[in-house]
Amino acid sequence: MNVLSVSSEVFPLVKTGGLADVVGALPLALAGNGVRMRVLVPGYPAVMEQIAKPRKVATLLSVFGDEMRLLAVQHAGLDLLVLDAPAYYNRNGGPYVDSTGKDYPDNWKRFAALSQAGAEIARGILPDWTPDLVHAHDWQAAMTPVYMRYTGLEHVPSLITVHNLAFQGQFGPDIFPQLGLPASAFSFDGLEYYGDVSFLKGGLRTAWEVTTVSPTYAQEIRTPEFGMGLEGLINARAGELIGIVNGIDTAVWDPRTDRHIAANYGPGALRARSKNRAALAERFGLGEDDGPIFCVVSRLTWQKGIDLIAEVADWIVAEGGKLAVLGAGDQGLEGALLAAASRHRSRIGVVIGYDEPLSHLMQAGADAILVPSRFEPCGLTQLYGLRYGCVPIVARTGGLADTVIDANEAALHARVATGFQFAPVSADGLRQALRRAFTAFREPKVWGRLQNQGMKSDVSWERSAERYARLYDSLLERA
Ligand code: ADP
Ligand code: GLC
Repeated sequence: MNVLSVSSEVFPLVKTGGLADVVGALPLALAGNGVRMRVLVPGYPAVMEQIAKPRKVATLLSVFGDEMRLLAVQHAGLDLLVLDAPAYYNRNGGPYVDSTGKDYPDNWKRFAALSQAGAEIARGILPDWTPDLVHAHDWQAAMTPVYMRYTGLEHVPSLITVHNLAFQGQFGPDIFPQLGLPASAFSFDGLEYYGDVSFLKGGLRTAWEVTTVSPTYAQEIRTPEFGMGLEGLINARAGELIGIVNGIDTAVWDPRTDRHIAANYGPGALRARSKNRAALAERFGLGEDDGPIFCVVSRLTWQKGIDLIAEVADWIVAEGGKLAVLGAGDQGLEGALLAAASRHRSRIGVVIGYDEPLSHLMQAGADAILVPSRFEPCGLTQLYGLRYGCVPIVARTGGLADTVIDANEAALHARVATGFQFAPVSADGLRQALRRAFTAFREPKVWGRLQNQGMKSDVSWERSAERYARLYDSLLERA
């Protein structure tokens, strides 16, 4: 089966979050299930610079009148289609924001063009390959099923995966006439959302099937609390909505072979972790004592509950713990964390920035990872934590609830616990979970069991890739 995946990010070429990891890992995971997946991504400078010897396979005109080229290239085991359209993608800055952090004003154009290219590939513009099914990710690719639906490709099965409902791609109605769609597309059945144009709403409305990245999040987004205004539509499509939990690339994230860490180690042989712990302490200027090191690797945003970390930081130190934070995001949150670090030198270390290798060392060296998200469609850092013996302490929401087994008395007794969950998501809730973690940490046997049990959890793509493959099959049967 041939599947086209359409995404605005793919690891290892361009990544701002978990979306890239998932889009980069899925094709490899699906290959064993008889799926040939090609990934369509924008030709940002970061992409163009890293790919070698691309082949031009097609030229097309965007609905906005710009010429775009499709390049085919193999990279890191991925079969990529790169949309080379300098007018849209050749920018200094990130995939979505300029170097000052502001959204590009023409993001709607940039990602409508990506989606349009996806639809054209589904139409068969490549000389030697046409997908049987199209799989779009998040609002940036959500116009793919919309273009398919309104340009005579509604018979080609399509699927949209929601990685985060908080980002919807909502724009003023004035852009609609430029999208090259029939007037009927600006309706309740299409893109129209409270008088605006919403890319994600359009995708949710027009794709054959909707998935999200954990079963719990699939339930949560049917409620006003998590539905972000789209719960009505999501409920209307509940029959075609499923949650499939993400896996991780267990080759990239393997403490036995990881080249970004100070010492390799594996399940059942955790002693070598102490070298990573020492390297981490040195990197963050933390004292060498035995107090637990809690780490955070995250976008620093309200979603991720980073304000709660700032709120409990002094208390963690008072209890004898240490904190190492790697992240970037809201300036207010960055400032609050940096202030905590300057109050507690050698107890709290903060690195503001994005650093993939350092994120590996943190999972390998910290004792626990904190993920106090207010909502979390899946979350990957707790999965890396499980794999690295870095015990996850997580909010009981979304994929966090689905992937970490709380160390309550019964689970400890049955030796199935892998971490700590807390609810409600508040500073008090977090403190209570931390209190339980401090207690467990003081008993090396209990802590070691948590680590080992976590390292035994299946965080691979195997089961979830099979579920995607079965879903693709069922869509093709319907076609
Ligand atoms: P989200 O996609 O919502 O940000 P996920 O947990 O799914 O959350 O994925 C985040 C990904 O980004 C993980 O691979 C994590 O390790 C990585 N990451 C986040 N912040 C940083 C950072 N400052 N430096 C390096 N990696 C980071
Ligand atoms: C989003 C979500 C995160 C999820 C990731 C990959 O960025 O916020 O929870 O793990 O997508 O699906």
